[in-house]
Amino acid sequence: MDLAENILLTQVGPGTPMGGLLRRHWMPIAGATEFGETDRIKPIRLMGEDLVLYKDLSGTFGLVQKECAHRRADLSYGFVEKCGIRCNYHGWAYDQTGQCVEMPFEDTVVPQAKYKDKICITAYPVKLHAGLVWAYLGPLPAPELPDWELFNFTNGFRQIVVSQIPCNWLQCQENSIDPVHFEWMHTNWSRRLVDITSEHGPKHLQVAFDSFEYGLVYRRQREDLPEDHTMWTVGRVCLWPNCFFLGDHFEWRVPVDDENTLSISWFYARVPREQEPYVQREIPTWHGPVVDPATGRWINTHVLNQDFIAWCGQGKIADRSREKLGLGDRGIQMLRRQLHDDLQAIERGEDPKGVIRDPSRARNIPLPNSERTYLAEGDTFAGIQAHRAFGAHLVRFVFQAGQPKAVWDQYCTAMGIVGAEIVSDDKVISI
Ligand code: FES
Ligand SMILES: [Fe+2]
Repeated sequence: MDLAENILLTQVGPGTPMGGLLRRHWMPIAGATEFGETDRIKPIRLMGEDLVLYKDLSGTFGLVQKECAHRRADLSYGFVEKCGIRCNYHGWAYDQTGQCVEMPFEDTVVPQAKYKDKICITAYPVKLHAGLVWAYLGPLPAPELPDWELFNFTNGFRQIVVSQIPCNWLQCQENSIDPVHFEWMHTNWSRRLVDITSEHGPKHLQVAFDSFEYGLVYRRQREDLPEDHTMWTVGRVCLWPNCFFLGDHFEWRVPVDDENTLSISWFYARVPREQEPYVQREIPTWHGPVVDPATGRWINTHVLNQDFIAWCGQGKIADRSREKLGLGDRGIQMLRRQLHDDLQAIERGEDPKGVIRDPSRARNIPLPNSERTYLAEGDTFAGIQAHRAFGAHLVRFVFQAGQPKAVWDQYCTAMGIVGAEIVSDDKVISI
């Protein structure tokens, strides 16, 4: 890849081609439970734009530009009203469409002027779904918000984890179509972190990549798995354009700007049959640290933290003009080609891959899911314990470091885990 192409695929600001492509999709930007009675306003930077996300006193979410239209004060220090957000400097107020609805001094002195009607700030549509706050920053009309099937599975304990990663979004997303790294980064490296003399884990023998309506799929054959294993017959999904779907969870890589990415993950754990029916009242959201304060180095103990190390290690914006692709990278090449196809579709005035316009097609969308049977139908506690992957989840949260104890406790209650020994978070998870 030459430098010009690397710039084309990584720049996300307003007016850039890739920024335009990504803006044509709904993006998860926060967990709804991050907003409580007192925590109602949050500054947020998305695709190079400084914005403010708020929940007003009626419970409506709004996403507006950071600067007040009046004299540019920071609206993230404003306060919410029954309808919308008010600037703390002179009290101008805006509703969720960005329309100025109150200009207290001007309204008092010359109410007939209706000056406020002429003032509107940038605002983007926001929706709540599956406990996530979603935003759409693209041209209107907005497409449908995809309702993935896993969001509707019952009897599950769900949690949302948010972290800011200091590198470009594309190197994070390329990780979603990279099966071989599991063997090295998550298995062999994890084992060696625990025991420097440990044996390597099972090898990949074959990988395959396919394209489907909502993304790409990778499949793997590993020497320890039978040929009819679902990792080979079904595989995992590089969900278009910036998500990784692994059967029991989603990982979105939402661009903050060219050099930062919001990692937003949504996890579903099916409770054992003995615990059914289980209804979760609300989905907890927590922020995962990425740096170990004791050493100043990246945390390396959990699956996603290990990925963060790979992504950030590639540089703020990976220089693809200096890489040497191997045979395991065919999926990466497919991903990049698809991005080019999408850019051309937009130039022709068409929707890029994965954009859904028909509301009836946006509901309960199934995705290839190698673990679908267990996640949809459940299993006994003993059955989960014996499961190759899910058994480990009963002992600790394996995906990201920093889970608050309160969330682990809620999970244990939901799963019917009694007297679980707390495993220290700084122990490497060996898989
Ligand atoms: S700067 Fe916001 S009301 Fe004056
Ligand atoms: Fe990974």
